[in-house]
Amino acid sequence: MLRTDLNEALSRVGRGTPMGELFRRFWLPAVLTSEIAEPDCPPVRLRILGEDLVAFRDTRGRVGIVAAYCSHRLAPLFFGRNEDCGLRCAYHGWKFDVEGNCLETPNVPVGAPDIRKNVGITAYSVHETAGVVWIYMGPKELQPPFPHLEYTDVPDDHVFAARWLQRTNWSQGLEGEIDSSHISWLHRDFDRENTKQKSAGAQMSEDAAPHIELRQTDYGLVYGARREFEGQYQWRVTQFILPMFSLIPRAPGDFVAGGGRAWVPIDDNHTTVFTFGYRVDQPIPQDELDSYYRSGALFPPRMERGRYTLPDGYAIDTWLPVANKENDYLLDREMQRTKNFTGIWGVHDQDRALAENSRSIGGADPGIIDRSAEHLVSSDRAVVAARRMLVNLTDALRKGTEPAIVANPEAFGVRAISRISPIASFDEFMAAYGAETQASGVHAPVPVE
Ligand code: FES
Ligand SMILES: [Fe+2]
Repeated sequence: MLRTDLNEALSRVGRGTPMGELFRRFWLPAVLTSEIAEPDCPPVRLRILGEDLVAFRDTRGRVGIVAAYCSHRLAPLFFGRNEDCGLRCAYHGWKFDVEGNCLETPNVPVGAPDIRKNVGITAYSVHETAGVVWIYMGPKELQPPFPHLEYTDVPDDHVFAARWLQRTNWSQGLEGEIDSSHISWLHRDFDRENTKQKSAGAQMSEDAAPHIELRQTDYGLVYGARREFEGQYQWRVTQFILPMFSLIPRAPGDFVAGGGRAWVPIDDNHTTVFTFGYRVDQPIPQDELDSYYRSGALFPPRMERGRYTLPDGYAIDTWLPVANKENDYLLDREMQRTKNFTGIWGVHDQDRALAENSRSIGGADPGIIDRSAEHLVSSDRAVVAARRMLVNLTDALRKGTEPAIVANPEAFGVRAISRISPIASFDEFMAAYGAETQASGVHAPVPVE
């Protein structure tokens, strides 16, 4: 369980809240490059950390993420015209550039004082890489260097990105990622257990109560889950990178490909899930990309681009999963009886079904779970450690200590790996294979009590 006040501190993301301020020290994924691909494209509506924003690419190809409302009479800039190096409000024609400067106020009479320098709108710093435009929403003077996550450093054709809407608090998404024991249950697939060539999924199904080891690091947590498999062990090494990035290992083997997710708060009750897949050795082959599409990890047929109206009436442009709360995620009880554990197709939909329907604080505040009512067990240790780490960082920030990691962009360069090995001790395993988890920089993990 988590005390109610700490649950609040962990969950709320608005400006001035403990976690909201911590998020405002990091670069965050904001929108896919493909959504604002062309100069003068239609703007995209976003809400990030509770702030309403629009993203656009101007005539010269520069990207802006600016406040959603015009400074004149607060009309929505989404309905404006993206033309001639600026976004022009559809109401009276005021025009703003990617830095939020007001360029024109055409309804101000000739001869009246020039007010343009006083009516600029908020514009945040952006950085475009890995198929995503990233945003920094904190104090300008504290803007950190861009983090060297491995997938942000590979060439463009070595990485793909996708995003979709999850109707929960951000922390619930993250906690699902670093909870290795649910994989053996929620994502269990009966068919795989019968195949001769056992997949990584089947290996996990055989030993559903993994031995878990945790080490705190300068970037977050490294987390080893050991399962017995045919006289040896399968080690899955998962990474939690502050403040909400996760790297999940793929099938056992030499590291050439990885994937990760980022849980970006829309507001307290909604999250944008970003997923990244990448290869370090070569461009992603078309057949691999096709298999992502088929599996629903990318867009159609499992995802549609569309508009979602938040409970307070603000609309965002997002990717909407076809399987959703209103249709019980296309739950099929016959599939649940014969094919997989849930009767829901695909890991993302399985995760979302459980997360979006967990018991929340109350009807007016959906998506934040009541952590004071939990009964945690030892396999929840990574979740507990991540919460503690984040709460400690928010406390420190309130007392004036900035999170150290943001000043060290190399620290973000780690990997998740999976291996079959006879080694039983995590420390010995890391001594043997730890170098594979280092994409850049050197980290010294320390045990977590
Ligand atoms: S409200 Fe935008 S120009 Fe008037
Ligand atoms: Fe999951």
